Amino acid sequence: MLLQIPELLNSAQIDKIREILEGAEFVDGKLTAGMAASRVKENQELGPDPQIQQRLNRVIMASVGQNARFRSAVLPHRLADFILARYQPGMHYGDHVDDPIMGGGKFRTDVSMTLFLNDPDSYEGGELVIRTPFGDQRVKLAAGSAVVYPSRSVHHVAAVTRGERLVALTWIQSFVRESERRELLFELDQAREHLLRTAPDSDHAKQVDRSYANLLRMWAEL
Ligand code: NI
Repeated sequence: MLLQIPELLNSAQIDKIREILEGAEFVDGKLTAGMAASRVKENQELGPDPQIQQRLNRVIMASVGQNARFRSAVLPHRLADFILARYQPGMHYGDHVDDPIMGGGKFRTDVSMTLFLNDPDSYEGGELVIRTPFGDQRVKLAAGSAVVYPSRSVHHVAAVTRGERLVALTWIQSFVRESERRELLFELDQAREHLLRTAPDSDHAKQVDRSYANLLRMWAEL
């Protein structure tokens, strides 16, 4: 499932990130790429500065952790620290799937997230293009909005031809490994929320609420 999370960050938080990044050093993205990916990866990533990394994570994680749409759709179990990636004119990232295991073996990547940090009008190109059974989906969102998609999907970043594409990336191990199951739970959760809001004492609300809980229990892996 490919899903947008609009306004994950507000403009004050985006400003804060820009302030943290002022003067920060970016390095060749190939340094963090696996063998196959390094052949197609042409971008820059924030250099390894633990203090900057920690400040960025604090700003971004607070919003991500509280976002109801993200939690319901992704069912996050483990989250990687964010990586900041920058694409200047001529930079791109060819077709690839994301690494299956990250954090030195600490977690599996089920869901990938791209959080857009620059105004889409301020750069040309730079769309995230995700291959789906229904054709390629091209994604370029407002600053502060994010997209989540299965880490197993083939995707690429189109070349930037003007301006600068700045994004934050993370990978998530979900409590529910299969994207089809997560999608079903996400829909059921929406029905459940609606019923609990509009008819909290009805038998239907209680049945759907219990079914959601027990289906999640059946499918969750810890
Ligand atoms: Ni990727």
